[in-house]
Amino acid sequence: MTIAASLAHAASIEDLRLIASRKLPRMVFDYIDGASGSEATARRNRAGFDRFLLRPEILVDLSKRDPGTTLFGERVALPMVIGPTGMNGAYWAQGDLCLARAARQENIPFVMSTAATVGLDPLVQAAGPMRWFQLYMLRDRGLAQALLDRIDHAGFKVLQLTGDTAVAGRRNRDIRNGFTLPFRWSPRKLADTARRPGWAVQMLRHGSPTLQLFAEIVGNVPQGATISEVMQRQINDGFTWRDLDWLRERWPGKLVLKGVASAEHARLALAAGLEGVVVSNHGGRQLDGASSTIEQLPSVVDAAAGRLTILIDSGFRHGADIAKAIALGADAVQLGRPTLFGLAAGGEAGARHALRILAAEFDCEMALSGATRVQDLRGRVQGRERLPTDGFEL
Ligand SMILES: Cc1cc2nc3c(=O)[nH]c(=O)nc-3n(C[C@H](O)[C@H](O)[C@H](O)COP(=O)(O)O)c2cc1C
Repeated sequence: MTIAASLAHAASIEDLRLIASRKLPRMVFDYIDGASGSEATARRNRAGFDRFLLRPEILVDLSKRDPGTTLFGERVALPMVIGPTGMNGAYWAQGDLCLARAARQENIPFVMSTAATVGLDPLVQAAGPMRWFQLYMLRDRGLAQALLDRIDHAGFKVLQLTGDTAVAGRRNRDIRNGFTLPFRWSPRKLADTARRPGWAVQMLRHGSPTLQLFAEIVGNVPQGATISEVMQRQINDGFTWRDLDWLRERWPGKLVLKGVASAEHARLALAAGLEGVVVSNHGGRQLDGASSTIEQLPSVVDAAAGRLTILIDSGFRHGADIAKAIALGADAVQLGRPTLFGLAAGGEAGARHALRILAAEFDCEMALSGATRVQDLRGRVQGRERLPTDGFEL
């Protein structure tokens, strides 16, 4: 079946996930799909949505609808962002460029990861004006400063500091599969790959993906054990709330903290002069046993009191999930796995297909909730009143 034909039959993100699982070697699929420890937080991310219910509205004039919104002063076509993911070149050749182009086509922002598998220049060429950058704080401040200067000159306007990865989550699937960087081959992995010839041919043609951006910054391609361990050697695990001043002084654009999980985090972000937060638990890939992000969202919204742009991710798979987040006060949703499943299913076209599925579902949810504009969704949700104010509940 051609890529176009298989995408045409994919009606949901779960459909794209299934196609991705058939196209990728097991170890690569598991790297995307897996989470840390018992994967309880990844499951809770999904279960959390069931605590909130959208309210249907009927007999509303829905003839003119606009799913667009404004993020950091820029008009975007949808309240969605392609969030930062590392190793994109392992899911499809030049995956970072495919995702950047898909975001550009759909007129939404794309966040380049520090763990990108392409260099800065090709990414800048592929991405639209709404290109954001995700920073893993490096151990070496001199290198971090040089990186900030480069991305500023390259026209990135929004910087997301990822705050929840000072220590790598233990991802058992990766340990079991021996998913290392660079790929190290064993008879089992070769057999796994041989069952996925389409993927293998792409990798042979373009070469095994490397952390190309890191190589540009640090001067060599970091190597080692599992991918999260490789990243770990470069990430500064001593960077604290107090050090945010250092970053604030050096970054002239919008500064956003990713990994926010409570009202207190939002208050500290405000005190540090940040413009936004991403309510995130890294898709359940870091602290196993944590709550879902959708359950934490209301307390963050209250603490921010309209003074922060609030983005959220982790577990979003349907338009209804996105509508609930907007109804609870988020400005937009960042997508991790949904666009990666699309990418693995069909490159740039697959990533766009994932966005279109979510856009169509979101438009439908918005309309059936009686909203013709994104901001009309605010408050149109039940369940918030049952949450204690700090968002925690056993
Ligand atoms: C394969 C993969 C790689 C990721 N790499 C990064 C990264 O380099 N930087 C980062 O801040 N977050 C990274 N994340 C986390 C995502 O940005 C996001 O927080 C998470 O995927 C959201 O959950 P979702 O996948 O359920 O949408 C990664 C996630 C996945 C699945």
